[in-house]
Amino acid sequence: MAIDDYWFKNAVIYCLNVATYMDCNGDGIGDFEGLSRRFDYLAALGVTCVWLQPFCCSPNRDNGYDISDYYGVTPRFGTSGDFVECMNTAQALGLRVVVDLVANHTSIDHPWFQAARADRKSPYRDWYVWADRRPRNHAQGTVFPPVQKTTWTRDRKAGQYYFHRFYDHQADLNTWNQAYREELYKIMGYWLQLGVSGFRMDAVPFLVEKKGANVKPAKDFALLQEMRRFLQWRARDAILLAEANVPANESMHYFGDEGDRLQMMLNFPVNQRLYYAFATHDPKPLKRALRDTIANIPRDAQWVQFLRSHDELDLGRLTEEQRAKVFQVFAPDATMQLYNRGIRRRLAPMLGNDRRRLELAYSLLFSLPGTPMIQYGDEIGMGEDLSLNEREATRTPMQWTGEPHGGFTSAKKSVLPVVDGGIFGYQKVNVNAQRRDPNSFMNWITRLIRVRKECMEISWGECEVIDCDADPVLVLVYRFRKAAMLSLHNFSDVAQSLHLKVRDKGGGRLIDLIGSEHSRAGPRGIHEIALDGYGYRWFRIGAVDETLSRAPY
Ligand code: NOJ
Ligand code: CA
Repeated sequence: MAIDDYWFKNAVIYCLNVATYMDCNGDGIGDFEGLSRRFDYLAALGVTCVWLQPFCCSPNRDNGYDISDYYGVTPRFGTSGDFVECMNTAQALGLRVVVDLVANHTSIDHPWFQAARADRKSPYRDWYVWADRRPRNHAQGTVFPPVQKTTWTRDRKAGQYYFHRFYDHQADLNTWNQAYREELYKIMGYWLQLGVSGFRMDAVPFLVEKKGANVKPAKDFALLQEMRRFLQWRARDAILLAEANVPANESMHYFGDEGDRLQMMLNFPVNQRLYYAFATHDPKPLKRALRDTIANIPRDAQWVQFLRSHDELDLGRLTEEQRAKVFQVFAPDATMQLYNRGIRRRLAPMLGNDRRRLELAYSLLFSLPGTPMIQYGDEIGMGEDLSLNEREATRTPMQWTGEPHGGFTSAKKSVLPVVDGGIFGYQKVNVNAQRRDPNSFMNWITRLIRVRKECMEISWGECEVIDCDADPVLVLVYRFRKAAMLSLHNFSDVAQSLHLKVRDKGGGRLIDLIGSEHSRAGPRGIHEIALDGYGYRWFRIGAVDETLSRAPY
């Protein structure tokens, strides 16, 4: 297979929710038609793959992650016809679309659950997880504490308790039931047939778990193999991307030793340590997480690196002391914290809207080994609204213009309020204003994406974390076939100077890929490289000329 067949390796992913992206029919809710009209914006930004958050029929009590019909689109966003039109527009622009696959649970409104609760003899009864008595450990393992207090809730109609890892309106499916698995493949097949390029799989660690009141903890990773096999039979180039917030050493179970399970995973271990490094200027735990996550991953597998997502910034896997330090810097106010472990803020406000730190963060994102993912609105530096509930704080509508509701809708009221006034209000932060300003953050990111796409070493190569003589600096070297690169990021506000011996068959010259300050090796082949406070540099190693684009792979 040619390198480019693995499109996901060198992709730029953009995550959005149709509800808050662009409202076209003026009812205050984003829709497929609105999104279709914004694909050209995304293509121009340099995005190659859009991850659409849930858009199926849903009572919408968890942002669409509570599905009541897997084969229908919610009428809030339009019709199935509008969805297909939307897919067609994306395809015409060369954009791939990956969609959420919420296979761990359904809404309790789903007809399967309704049938299951109404009749013990219903074939759907065993699609869910029941107990006559509430298990003693029912208060443990809730995902949204303290909002949600139990994982077992009594259903009067069923006369039993049902299990739910998330909110009580999201009943867990018994993923070990064969009939359910067959239905799941049908659902995958359905959306693949409509042209999606794969699935972002929700809650994978829970999906593979053996569930029940008295079962011994066990995980069935074979399910992931089955799903992958089915996927690839139907669509050779489709991918599965896992949401699995697990320690680095468990990721192998998800990728599979043979690379025969999921091709991609969101890199939670690195994400959490990135914020520790931003907060403390100390990249040591980040270095460890990078080394741990890149060690021995199967050749075809790929990490998805990200800064923020639509959820809280989950710091649950830092030590208590580390988490306290991050809270102190980025969420000093208790209202900014969530679920005893996370932060419900956007990136720009956390970094004090400081352009230097924002550039550092994005330069890192685009040079971390893997595929980068952007959260909608972060490319223009949007802020949050802490007056909204839980995670909704960071899910406000996209800010397109300086017009009312940021140009998101012409309705009087929008689905969630647009951030209005102040530093992050739509009047100041919007796409239109940034489009016209060559120095805007959005135009800076667009240029960075262009460079990133020309650096296949980052997405394909072997990455090595190098220790150097400046503690606050992260140095990464990437090698792929005949090409090699180097990136440096200074987490401190103080300028640094460091010394590096670079293995290089060329003339000892490092080509600056972002600026124009190339580096020449000094005596004994050692480079002395300077970085401003929060500075970053990308160099190509061993270049024959100043060519910035595709190295001779
Ligand atoms: C993970 C999703 O990212 C989150 O938004 C959702 O609430 C849970 N899974 C439950 O589906
Ligand atoms: Ca609408």
